[in-house]
Amino acid sequence: MGRRDTRGHYDGLAAEYDEHWVYGPEYVPWMSGRIAEALRLKPADRIADIGSGTGLFARELARQLRPSRPIVCVDPSEAMLRGLGTPPPPDLAPVVASAEDVAECRVRLPYQEFDAIWLKESVHHVPDQARTLRGLADRLAPGGRLLIVMLPATIRYPLFKAALARFEELQPDPAGIEVHLRQAGLETRLSHVEHELRIDRDRYLGMVRARYMSLLSTFSDREIEEGVEEMRAAHPEPVLVFPDRFAFILGRRAEESA
Ligand SMILES: C[S@@+](CC[C@H](N)C(=O)[O-])C[C@H]1O[C@@H](n2cnc3c(N)ncnc32)[C@H](O)[C@@H]1O
Repeated sequence: MGRRDTRGHYDGLAAEYDEHWVYGPEYVPWMSGRIAEALRLKPADRIADIGSGTGLFARELARQLRPSRPIVCVDPSEAMLRGLGTPPPPDLAPVVASAEDVAECRVRLPYQEFDAIWLKESVHHVPDQARTLRGLADRLAPGGRLLIVMLPATIRYPLFKAALARFEELQPDPAGIEVHLRQAGLETRLSHVEHELRIDRDRYLGMVRARYMSLLSTFSDREIEEGVEEMRAAHPEPVLVFPDRFAFILGRRAEESA
């Protein structure tokens, strides 16, 4: 998907985005807790969520952490950022920009450097990942952490076969992302977290029709309908149960030597 298509996809999805991603009441608190833990967040940290979308996770993190300074929520889709609220709550600071804008210092941010930055399911939209991740790493304070949360190279979602194949074509490999972070001078660690999803089948088919994943935007209406039929035949059960597994790639900048 090109940059304009990506923006159009998220602008169109923004109003109903949270509804699609809140699979169950425990999902967002669980994921936010894992992010806070991996980044060892502290209330006084200068924090950014890059590709924050509607701020689903930043909002929950702010609730859990009670940060003393606002979490900067960066996203190129103004429509997605509107999900933060109008006006946004005082603990979240929206910035309309891309990861590349932040990496290349093309945008003014509330902090010069950051103690913690995360990108959750947005790194696959970044065209030059090596360059952008290096730029983001350069914005870390000594001891600062950069976390990439992404789906692995293969997923076990109950999607139609062509969608799963296209996912594998498009998804960057977490091991490659770890290499980029290491080459950016960070000490790295790659781990995985997993959560079991239980979702009403018809609701999930509706999410696929609404193209809840950006890769579904690469299929025509007819292909989506055929895919939904394929899924319906393969999954007669009323509730779909499947693992949602995420790669967590953590990079840490060394403390400055005295
Ligand atoms: C799958 S959504 C994830 C949103 C949020 N992180 C979450 O997990 O709910 C991907 C987000 O990445 C944003 N995005 C697209 N291109 C981007 C870029 N070049 N830099 C930063 N974010 C981008 C989209 O606008 C969208 O909000």
